[in-house]
This record gives sequence, structure tokens and C-alpha cells, in this order.
Amino acid sequence: MIFRQAFDNKSSTYTYLIASAKGREAVIIDPVIENVDSYINILNELELKLVKVIDTHIHADHISGLNELSKRTKCSKIMGEQSSSEVVDIRVKDNEKIKIEKIELVSIYTPGHTDCSYSFLMKDKVFTGDTLLINATGRTDFQSGNSYDAYDSLFNKLLKLPEKTLVYPAHDYNGKKYSTIENEKNNNPRLKVKSAEEYAEIMKNLNLENPKMIDIAITANVKGFTLDQIN
Ligand SMILES: [Fe+2]
Repeated sequence: MIFRQAFDNKSSTYTYLIASAKGREAVIIDPVIENVDSYINILNELELKLVKVIDTHIHADHISGLNELSKRTKCSKIMGEQSSSEVVDIRVKDNEKIKIEKIELVSIYTPGHTDCSYSFLMKDKVFTGDTLLINATGRTDFQSGNSYDAYDSLFNKLLKLPEKTLVYPAHDYNGKKYSTIENEKNNNPRLKVKSAEEYAEIMKNLNLENPKMIDIAITANVKGFTLDQIN
């Protein structure tokens, strides 16, 4: 299997490119618009045909490359059914299968960071978006975020996956590339809570600044901006 993890320095975003083998069909998860050329280069190098692109949620800290990639490769754009994106082709619900030749992703509705956040399970790997990060969890204070929903998504969905499942988040700010469910259960300070109320209390007191690009990014991602609309 081909599995590439790309990092965007400006927004600390991880993007994933997956295909069963050279010359086959591919899927990209959480692309960043400024890096679309580099994804296209990798696709060309490996003779891959991009057939699907997925955003785990409407991002607030960077402009997604979803629509630009689709414009250039004609791939289908996938998000959850709750997404406010105006350009999505396929809207998935909880527990739906997304097939790319021999690869199968299963959607898991994991709201809380936003009301349209999904995770995607691929055998022993789970792409958690901003729902579960390494040693952290996604903030819940904008984009219809909800700490109680986040608690439910974390404790009743993601942490119920087999402990050896590899966790691939949409961001990391400390140079970590992946984790495991077991690691997060044992070490993630946000998950050391005994109740949803306790979790909500922690999230209420984070006092985080808004992402610098929040207004531009959300509008661009809802409307599906392409490169010619941001330059
Ligand atoms: Fe996010």
C-alpha cells in the first residue's frame, strides 16, 4: 500500500495520500490549498489517479485544497452530511463505506470539535481530523462545537477502537506524526476525566485565541475556493 503523510508548516496540518499500489486509484484526506501542486507531483510520480478527496470537517485554520484538487483531477469531493460546504459531491453518514479499489474507509461521525466532524477508519489506522489529536483534543468553542458531543465522540467511539489502532490526526504542533488509541488512553491529559461535565469544564477554560485565518478560511471552505480565488 502507498501511504504518504504530508505536513503543512504554516497551519501544522497533516494531509494523507493513500492508494493500494503504484498506478492505481488514490484518495487524499485534508489537503491544504497551497500544497496542491506538491500533491499532484506525488500523484504523477506514482502514476496514481486521484478519485476521491475527503475533508474531515470545515477547517478554520487553513483553506482546504478539496475543490482545487477536484478541479484539476475531476475527483469526487466527500464530507459528512452535516457539512455546510457548497461544493461537496458525496455526503456520508455515520458508518458508511468509502471504497477506492482495494482500500476501504469507514466513516465515523465524531461531532464536538465542529458539528460536521468525521473520522475515517482504514483497518488499523484511524484519521481523526481534529476530534482526537496527539496528547490533545480539538477545541469546541466555535463552528457549532460542543464539549459534550466531543466527549461522546472520544469516549464512546474513538477510544472504543482496538488499542493498537494507529491515530493519524489532522494537526500536530509538536512534531509527532501519529499515536495509538492505547497511547492516547494512557497519556492524553484531556482524556483523564471521569465525566462529560468534567471534560466540558476543561474545554470551557482553555481560553484559546481564534485561529488567525478563521474568517477567511471558513468562508473559503464553505464556498470551496480554488487557487484563483485566493491569489
Ligand atoms: Fe479544525
